[in-house]
Amino acid sequence: MDFDRQTNIPLALVVAMSNNNVIGRGGDMPWHMSDDLKWFKKNTIGKPIVMGRKTFQSIGRALPDRDNIVVTRQSDFCHQGVTVASDLEDAIAIAEAFALHRKVQEICIIGGGEIYKQALPFASRIYLTEIDATIEGDVFFPTLNGNEWQREAKGIISKNNKNDYNARLSILTRKAD
Ligand SMILES: NC(=O)c1ccc[n+]([C@@H]2O[C@H](COP(=O)([O-])OP(=O)(O)OC[C@H]3O[C@@H](n4cnc5c(N)ncnc54)[C@H](OP(=O)(O)O)[C@@H]3O)[C@@H](O)[C@H]2O)c1
Repeated sequence: MDFDRQTNIPLALVVAMSNNNVIGRGGDMPWHMSDDLKWFKKNTIGKPIVMGRKTFQSIGRALPDRDNIVVTRQSDFCHQGVTVASDLEDAIAIAEAFALHRKVQEICIIGGGEIYKQALPFASRIYLTEIDATIEGDVFFPTLNGNEWQREAKGIISKNNKNDYNARLSILTRKAD
């Protein structure tokens, strides 16, 4: 897939994955990680967020203080607080308009597996949570080519009563060609 961007506002994927690239199980996230939700909020607040219809249904509501854009092929899909897009290109064009209007310099792609796969070639940044465990699941993040990305360590999450696993927080930036 290829398409022309209307602006050069960067696209960032925001994802938490296990050592074996699992991101989902049974329509939900296979872990509880309170500190990861805080990191997610910090990195997405005020920005347009693009998600697949299944991820939206798993969250169950529009996330506050962000422009929520949901990608679906269902022409009759509608939900309070959500802008509906008919494909990823449409979603990014809508997100660009929101970003320009709000004067924000990033569009966040928040999943799930189908949407990450389609958006990865266009992403210049990844807010990455690496959960330090091998976990069973049915939705996966694509394998990243380590040579293409520069990693900046941003912290760790320690396993405790609010976080199921240890995890590492990083920002990956796509290296220049
Ligand atoms: N760990 C994480 O960071 C993270 C983040 C987000 C989600 N998740 C998990 O990931 C799982 C969901 O991922 P998923 O891959 O199953 O679903 P998804 O990517 O969230 O949504 C898939 C849906 O998006 C729509 N869609 C996808 N591509 C489209 C296109 N090109 N044009 C129009 N519509 C398109 C379709 O909706 P319609 O069927 O309505 O047409 C499709 O069924 C859940 O388990 C969730 O908890 C994990």
